[in-house]
Parts: sequence; C-alpha cells; structure tokens
Amino acid sequence: MGRVGLFTDLRVRDLPIFEAVWRSLQSARIDVVVFDSVRVEPTDESLLEAARFASEAKLTGYVSLGGGSVIDTCKAANLFASHPAELLDYVNAPVGLGKPIPGALRPHIACPTTSGTGSEVTGIIIFDLHALSVKTGIASPMIRPSEALVDPDATRTLPTEVVAASGMDVLCHALESFTARPFDQRAAPATPLMRPMSQGRNPWSDIGCREALRLIGLFFERAVRDTTDDEARQQLMWAATLAGIAFGNAGVHVPHGMSYAVAGLVRDHRPSGYPTDHAMVPHGVSVIVNAPSVFRWTAPTSPSRHLEAAALLGEDTRSAEPADAGDLLGSRLVTLMRGALVPNGLSGVGYGATDVPALAQGALAQQRLLQNAPQPIDEETLKRLFLGAISYW
Ligand SMILES: [Fe+2]
Repeated sequence: MGRVGLFTDLRVRDLPIFEAVWRSLQSARIDVVVFDSVRVEPTDESLLEAARFASEAKLTGYVSLGGGSVIDTCKAANLFASHPAELLDYVNAPVGLGKPIPGALRPHIACPTTSGTGSEVTGIIIFDLHALSVKTGIASPMIRPSEALVDPDATRTLPTEVVAASGMDVLCHALESFTARPFDQRAAPATPLMRPMSQGRNPWSDIGCREALRLIGLFFERAVRDTTDDEARQQLMWAATLAGIAFGNAGVHVPHGMSYAVAGLVRDHRPSGYPTDHAMVPHGVSVIVNAPSVFRWTAPTSPSRHLEAAALLGEDTRSAEPADAGDLLGSRLVTLMRGALVPNGLSGVGYGATDVPALAQGALAQQRLLQNAPQPIDEETLKRLFLGAISYW
C-alpha cells in the first residue's frame, strides 16, 4: 500500500484509537487520505459517495476503523473503485443482478471498533436501498478484507447501548448459523465455483457458533453492565469474530431476513447511544426483536440443537424435554434482552400489528436468507412470526 484511504466515522475520528492508527500509517511513510463521512447504517447513496471518493483519490490500499457500517462502506468503496460497475450489478439477486466480481480487490485492513458485526471476517456488504425501502447486500469472497486487526481496546469507550445491540447481533449470528439448514440437505451446486458463500450449517461453522454462544452466555451481561470490565469486553470481541467466521460460512437465516424489513421501514425510532440525525433501528436490535419468535418456530426441526444453544447461553436444561426447546431458548433470549435494556420486540421500535403485512412483504424479498432456514417459509408464516414478535413482556 502506498496511498491508503482511512475510512472511519465522525465519532471514531475524535477518539484516541484514530490517532493511533493515523500515526502508525504516517510512521510507515504511507500517504493517508481520510474518509470520515460514513453513514451509520449505510445507504446506496452513501456507498456511492464513498466509491467516488476512492476512485478520485486513486487509492492503492484501504484501512477501515469503525463498526460494521464503516467496514462495509470501505469494502464497497474498494469494490467499485477496483471494478467499476452500476451499484445493482453486484447486488444479490433478485434485488440486483448478482453478477460475479471479476477479480481481486485492493488490500484492505479492517479494524473493528464494535464487538458485533464480524464484518472484518466476512465477504458481505449490507446497505439500505432507498428506492425499495429494503436492506440488501453484496456477497463475494473477493470482498473479504485481506486482514482483520481485532483489538478489544478499541471497544473501551463504546456506549452501553451499542455494546448491547452489537452483542445481540453476535448472538444471532451464532444462533442462526447453528440452526441453519444443514449443508448436506441443500441442492449441490452444478460446479464448485457456483457454491454460495452461505453453505448452511456444517461441522466447521458449528465450532465457532458453539464457542461464541458459550462466551456470550458467560460475558454478555457483564460487558453491558460494566463498561470497565475489560475481560468481558475482550471475550465479547472474540465471540464476535468467531461468530463472524461462522456466519460468513454457514449463513444466517430468518431473524436477519426479517430484520432488514424492520430496519428499512423505520419511522421515527431514534435510539440513545447512536447518531440522532436520522431515524434508525440499530442492526442488532432489528435482528434480536424477531429472534424469540423465530426460534420457537424452528425448535421442532432440531430440538437438541436448540436446547444445546439455550444451555450454552446459561439456561438450565438438565430436565428439559425436546418439546421444551423452543420455549426455553425463547425465554433465555428474552431474559438477555431485558437485562440489556433492549427494546421489547417490534412494539419497542415503533411497530404494531397493522404493520405486519408490510414487514412480511419486506422480509419476503430476502430469499437468500429465507432459503437458509431449517424449514420452508412463506408469507403467511412470516406474518405469524412478526405477530409473535410484537412484544415479549
Ligand atoms: Fe448481523
């Protein structure tokens, strides 16, 4: 790298960690150009703005320092500066054309400052497509950063609300990957090159899922309760990376598919701890509000896995029957949500029963995720799951 684009957001730019990265690049005699207008929860316009910046600055390398929004924006800037195209060309079908990315991108070192998205180890970009009011994505192994520099010191000043929301995202990455459709129950691709990034649950992804769930069970509540608990934040950061590796391989399913409608149709929810310039549902919150409802529905497909997940998260399952799996896991999730002051289901982020048809319509567009569910799902089922997610206590 000779001329590096350092991607961050306005908050992180004022933190000592930004200074440390800036100085480190300067002392290596690297020419650094800063892009700090990343939008939290990126949109098509904000990604294109970053891509224009990258093309005009003639960058030969990228460093991202921030949460998932920053890392994803940096991935997009790198992609469109390296292989110019219309935005929708690379976006997943059916929303976009799903064209393959023609070759390698410029090197990208990703430094996460939240313990959540796992974006530093995935080949996925997620953004709001304003024209359709829906979250969608671009997925390719080419997009994965060349290096992830994971330093839990970077989360020391993270607001409690962000630790809670991003921790819920980690939890769902692990839980959805752990309960996804098994890799050997999916149609085989015509050639290995056509194998999708999300392959369904498999013995490799299970390793990361189990350990991430165990760490969340041990450390999530501590990390949220006490911002000075370095051990808890460190373990949560490790769980985020493990869950990122797992879901980048197995894929998430229904709670994430539903979350894109929850985030995309937001009206006026402005959570504390986040920028207040636009209404938003933080990604982790938009996912977890659906989770108890969904896992009560998926539990009969693999009761022992759902019980194992509940136990890893701290639930006493010793005398549980297979038929209890959904309720036990669901109630464990609700306990974790309440303890972390996460909104109470869809009603906590501004939705009611009359919004359910629009939410189900929005989620139905997420076929890539819905097809990774352990059982078939249609619009009527989505409506039932959203209704079950309106409030939990
Ligand atoms: Fe996520």
